[in-house]
Amino acid sequence: MQSVQTTHTTAAAAIASELGADSHSLSLSQVMHQFGSFVALKDINLAIRPGEFVSLLGPSGCGKTTLLRIISGFLDPTAGNVLIDGQSVKGLSPSQRGTGIVFQNYALFPHMTVWDNVAYGLRAGGKLSRGQVSNRVGEMLDMVQMSHLAKRVPSELSGGQQQRVAIARALAVEPRIMLLDEPFSALDKSLRLDMQIEIRRILGEQGITAILVTHDQEEAMSMSDRIAVLSGGEIHQFDSPINLYDRPATHFVSSFVGTCNHIPGEVLGRSEAGYRVQVPGGELDVATDQPLAPNGKVTVAVRPENLRVQPQTHGHTLTGTVAMCLPLGSVMTYDVTLADDLHIKLTQTRTLGSQPLKTGDRIHLDLVSPNACAVFPA
Ligand SMILES: Nc1ncnc2c1ncn2[C@@H]1O[C@H](COP(=O)(O)OP(=O)(O)O)[C@@H](O)[C@H]1O
Ligand SMILES: [Mg+2]
Repeated sequence: MQSVQTTHTTAAAAIASELGADSHSLSLSQVMHQFGSFVALKDINLAIRPGEFVSLLGPSGCGKTTLLRIISGFLDPTAGNVLIDGQSVKGLSPSQRGTGIVFQNYALFPHMTVWDNVAYGLRAGGKLSRGQVSNRVGEMLDMVQMSHLAKRVPSELSGGQQQRVAIARALAVEPRIMLLDEPFSALDKSLRLDMQIEIRRILGEQGITAILVTHDQEEAMSMSDRIAVLSGGEIHQFDSPINLYDRPATHFVSSFVGTCNHIPGEVLGRSEAGYRVQVPGGELDVATDQPLAPNGKVTVAVRPENLRVQPQTHGHTLTGTVAMCLPLGSVMTYDVTLADDLHIKLTQTRTLGSQPLKTGDRIHLDLVSPNACAVFPA
């Protein structure tokens, strides 16, 4: 270990030069897990690049924590392999794997001071002298800006402070892979944003490969290089935040990430742009990669901002009635009723002097572009 750094930025920079060039990849190959007869994870395959920040995003009970426990080494999968830098880590303990984990409830040792909590793993490792442990703990507490509270015990700290200690403790042992299980869910909104930025910065500076488990799509979108969307123990899509939003692979992804209208339809045939689809209130022209069979039932998934009001109907518009106006400051959101009493949402950016629609207005809508939607088999 190098000499003690006095500010957290220089400490982080020093560690970055130590570790940054040495980031680690993680891959999961055909991982499956069963609790008794219940299949919690089905055939999970993921390849995470060295230094990448990845989120596992999905609703409660979809298998996120189970997958994190398998990666960390706390749980053996029923089948499949975890590989770090291409090497299977089967049978290795969490510390042998070099995985650091921050649990949802922080799990600090309640009777130990902040200092002793952070020192715990280093002492247990038994490789460092007392002076080296002291230097490393000092660096870590500087980095998370907790040095001034080193003598306190966890019950004397706020949730955010406890969380920073948990992160310092996990980072102290120089993990190859950092695993974070819903670490922000107990924090109030303003503190959560500060911590998200701070964690992203610390991990980024150190080049540590990280996996964040969350059910909060905004958190996943704002923090991640890529997001794996899970539902029912399966990965629906592993992609960049923007691609998840613009090109959702499944109905589930389009509804879980952002707001989306799902309009039932029937394929009429080919059109210039791709296909003409009959939907309640009219027809839409949609472009899609996969071939659609004539008369096939589909769901057209359209984001509210990808619908556009047209002055009059033309070959491919929907006609509906404004049922409600929701002014949200910079955008107006409208609830629009189509035929069959289908409700959809429309958003428009509001500019000074623009005339908002009114309840009861009869309007014609089309897509801003034929590919501004996703089409799924119904
Ligand atoms: N030890 C266990 N025994 C039996 N079922 C479990 C156990 N742990 C988790 N499960 C079940 O596996 C599913 C996934 O759980 P979990 O990975 O904790 O979900 P998440 O973290 O996404 O909320 C849930 O249905 C949960 O009830
Ligand atoms: Mg969980």
